[in-house]
Amino acid sequence: METSKRMKRESKRQNNLNISDFLSKGMEKMRASDIRDALKLVEGKKIISFAGGLPDPETFPHNEVKEIVRMLEHSDFSSSFQYGATLGMRELRKELAKFVSKRGILNANEDNVLISAGSQEAIYILCFLLLDPGDDIIVEAPTYVAALNAMRLRNPVFHGIPIKNNGMDMDDLEKEIKEIEAVGRKVKFIYTVPSSQNPGGVTMSMDNRKRLLELAEEHNILIIEDDAYGFLAFDGNAPDAIKSLDTTGRVIYTSTFSKILAPGFRLGWVIASTEIISKMELMKQSIDLHSSTFTQRIALETLRRGVIERNMPKVRKLYKEKRDVMIKSIEEWFPKNVKYSVPDGGMFIFVWLDQKIDTRKLLQDAIKRGVAFVPGSGFYHDDSGNNTMRLNFSRPSTEEIRDGIKILGALIKEATT
Ligand SMILES: Cc1ncc(COP(=O)(O)O)c(C=O)c1O
Repeated sequence: METSKRMKRESKRQNNLNISDFLSKGMEKMRASDIRDALKLVEGKKIISFAGGLPDPETFPHNEVKEIVRMLEHSDFSSSFQYGATLGMRELRKELAKFVSKRGILNANEDNVLISAGSQEAIYILCFLLLDPGDDIIVEAPTYVAALNAMRLRNPVFHGIPIKNNGMDMDDLEKEIKEIEAVGRKVKFIYTVPSSQNPGGVTMSMDNRKRLLELAEEHNILIIEDDAYGFLAFDGNAPDAIKSLDTTGRVIYTSTFSKILAPGFRLGWVIASTEIISKMELMKQSIDLHSSTFTQRIALETLRRGVIERNMPKVRKLYKEKRDVMIKSIEEWFPKNVKYSVPDGGMFIFVWLDQKIDTRKLLQDAIKRGVAFVPGSGFYHDDSGNNTMRLNFSRPSTEEIRDGIKILGALIKEATT
């Protein structure tokens, strides 16, 4: 009798509980992934996936890493298993300060480097380091969804600048900055993925890089340069990083081992002024103390032995072949009025469909026919871009690309008529 009363009281109490009443404002704005929700519908069924952003496992240097681990076993296992410095291993920071000369960054030394748990952690730290709720920030439209989500946690006011073939449109950018200033507000930072952008697949020209930095200097704005794909230009010649032009410490540069070695290592890095680096160090201490010592030790050895240097041309060649197959299939199977980017590097093609097609709805049908992609609206700060989608070409095989694009093409034609 007593027990049943207690159970009733408890169930009444539980019914009052609505977790969303307790969430922070930033969390309210975070969106679940469309693709994850849609994939729940077909668990267990075989799907051709153009969603996600996974590297082709072929690009992982299995044998070289095995050799390195064997070498460590004999010489260095204990120190690789130990706690380490928050900034990251000094030798690795030194190697990275040299490595980024490939992106034109010539004046960095180890004190300008912080090793993060993937570049995602660096972006997250920067959002918490720099943003107060209500701050104005500028992003590309579309832009990298997980960066948007990290920013959303801080509740900023977003301003989006559409991307064109040469990256963010600089006239639009200047106009937006002036409009923000005209109402007595100030832009804190501009976040850009200037090379082989995710999701847009476009690369900012050198002229636009220079103009972006000039605008940032004139209006006293920081730039976060996310160079995740700068080493993956198919011809090996992405324009030098914006950071290479920076003489005052205004540009905070992030990049990653995820695309040139292995994402499972969870290693990225930041190149910035020592003031920024030491603030990031302080924040990282309270997040995860430091990034994995073991994978840092392996990454260091891959740089020293030239494993990454030798691997990069192979990755570029493979992804260029896959991009070509995807573009050719799109030309063959998609309706002629569809617009799409032709990326010069990276892993993604962005597609603009007829305005009346909602790609979130299209995804449900695509998944029923065994193909997945990411609806584009998630990449827009304001949830626009309902008629867009992102297609990944690095992970699927060339056969899957041909088959999947044919299926998608038929679906798009059905949705247009
Ligand atoms: C533009 C961009 N930035 C950052 C990241 C984060 O990568 P990671 O945390 O693996 O370094 C990604 C991953 O896909 C990305 O596309």
